Amino acid sequence: MTIKEALNSEQEVKDIKICGWLRTRRDSKDFSFLEINDGSCLSNIQAIASSSLDNYSEEISNSNTGAALEVHGNLIASKGKGQKWEVQATKVIVHGNSDPDYALQKKRHSNEFLRTIAHLRPRTNTFGAVFRVRSALSFAVHKFFIENGFYNIHTPIISTSDCEGAGELFTVTALEKVEKESDYLKDFFSAKASLTVSGQLEAETLACALSKVYTFGPTFRAENSNTPRHLAEFWMIEPEMAFCDLSQNAALAEKFMKYVIQYALDNCQEDMQFFNKWIEKGILDSLESLVKTNFETITYTEAINILQASKEKFEFPVSWGIDLQTEHERHLTDKHIGKPVFVTDYPKEIKAFYMRLNDDDKTVAAMDLLAPRLGEIIGGSQREERKDVLVNRIKESNLPLDHYWWYLDLRKYGTVKHAGFGLGFERLVMYVTGISNIRDSIPFPRTPGNAEF
Ligand code: 4AD
Ligand code: MG
Repeated sequence: MTIKEALNSEQEVKDIKICGWLRTRRDSKDFSFLEINDGSCLSNIQAIASSSLDNYSEEISNSNTGAALEVHGNLIASKGKGQKWEVQATKVIVHGNSDPDYALQKKRHSNEFLRTIAHLRPRTNTFGAVFRVRSALSFAVHKFFIENGFYNIHTPIISTSDCEGAGELFTVTALEKVEKESDYLKDFFSAKASLTVSGQLEAETLACALSKVYTFGPTFRAENSNTPRHLAEFWMIEPEMAFCDLSQNAALAEKFMKYVIQYALDNCQEDMQFFNKWIEKGILDSLESLVKTNFETITYTEAINILQASKEKFEFPVSWGIDLQTEHERHLTDKHIGKPVFVTDYPKEIKAFYMRLNDDDKTVAAMDLLAPRLGEIIGGSQREERKDVLVNRIKESNLPLDHYWWYLDLRKYGTVKHAGFGLGFERLVMYVTGISNIRDSIPFPRTPGNAEF
C-alpha cells in the first residue's frame, strides 16, 4: 500500500506493507515511533516498532532520518492525535540506513540551499508537494485538450528554423570543431541545427490538417537572463487551431487556465492547503476566485496609457513601442486590474514575424496573458495567413526566407486564418503553488552556469 492509500483507508487492515523513507524516529522504553514518508502524499504515517522485534537493537533503533524502510504490520486506529491510522509493525526491514550527515535532518531549509541538493530536495515537504502538483497539472493539460477535441502531436526537439527569430538558440552539432558557418553543411543534418525554442511552426502544419492540435514538450532558450521567471530548458504547451481568430484563441486560453487550476484545487487538496499555509498565504482564495472571474482584455496601446497615467516610478520608462517589462506587467495585473488580463495588438517591431499584421500596419494580432504575482504566463497570436504579407515580415525581420519555404507552403495550399498560444508550464506550476522562483518548479532547473544535476 502507498501511505496515501493507507491513510485514506475506510477500515483497519491486517498484514499491510508500507515502504518509504524515515522522517523521524522517537524511542520510548519499549517502542520506537517511526514517521515514514513515501511521497505518495504529504503526510507521513507512523509505524510503531516494538523492542521485541528481532532486528530492533542492531537495525531499527539505529535507523537514521533518511533511511529506506519496509514495514509489515497491521493498520490500526491511531491513539495519538492528528492522524487516524498507524501501523503496528510485525517486521521492519531496513533496506538502507542513512549516514548521519544527511542534510535533511533539520526541519526547515531555505529554497536557495535546497537548490544545491537538487537530488535530495524532492524528499522535503515543499518539493514533494510541488512535484505532485506538477504531475496533476500535466495530466489536467492533456485531459483538457483531449476532452475539447484536440489531438496531441509531438513536434521535433531538433530544428533548423528559429521560430521566435530572437536568436536565443543552442546549437546542436556532431562536429568536434566549427570554424566557419559553412562547416555546418558537412555536419550531421547538413545544416546548422539547434534545440527548438518552440514547436509552433510545426504545430501549424498539423493544425492545417487535423484542425485542432497541441504539443507539450521541452523547449530551450539560450537567453542569458538570470531571473526568477526564466529557465534555459522549460516545458511549453502549445495549442494551434485552424479556422480560429484572436478572440477565439483568447477564449480558449481562459477556459484552459481555469480548467487546469480547478483540477489542482479539486485533486491536490492536501498539497494546496500546505502551499496556502507555508508558501503563499491566501493562494487558495485567490485561485478559487480566479476560476470564477472573467479575465480582462486591453490593447497594448491602452496598457501604455494606463502605465503612463500611473504615478509609479518604473525602472524602464514607458513609451509606445517599448516591450513590456515584468514591472510593467505586474503593475497592470496586480495593481491596476487585480486579475489576469490579456494584452493584445502589440507593435509589430517587438513581436515575432509570424503574427498577423493588423490593418493599421503598425500592430499585430498578438495576445499575452498577464497574471497577478507573475506577469506573462501565456504568449500567443493569430498567425499571418497571407503569403505576401508573411514574406515581407520574414524579410523585415532579417530572417533567411529559404528556411521557411515549407511554412510558406501552408499559405499557398488552402491557407486559412489560424491561431494558437504557448503556456510556459513552469510558470503555471509557480502560479498554482505560489512558489516564487521558477527554479523550484522543475526537478532539475537549467539556468546559466547550472546543469550539474
Ligand atoms: O511568448 P513565447 O516566447 O511564445 C512562443 O514561443 C510562441 N511560439 C507560443 C505560441 O504561440 N505557440 O513563450 C510562450 C510562453 C511564455 O508566455 C512563458 O510562459 C514561457 O513560454 N516562457 C518561458 N518560461 C520559462 N523560461 C523561459 N526562458 C521562457 N520563455 C518563455
Ligand atoms: Mg512572450
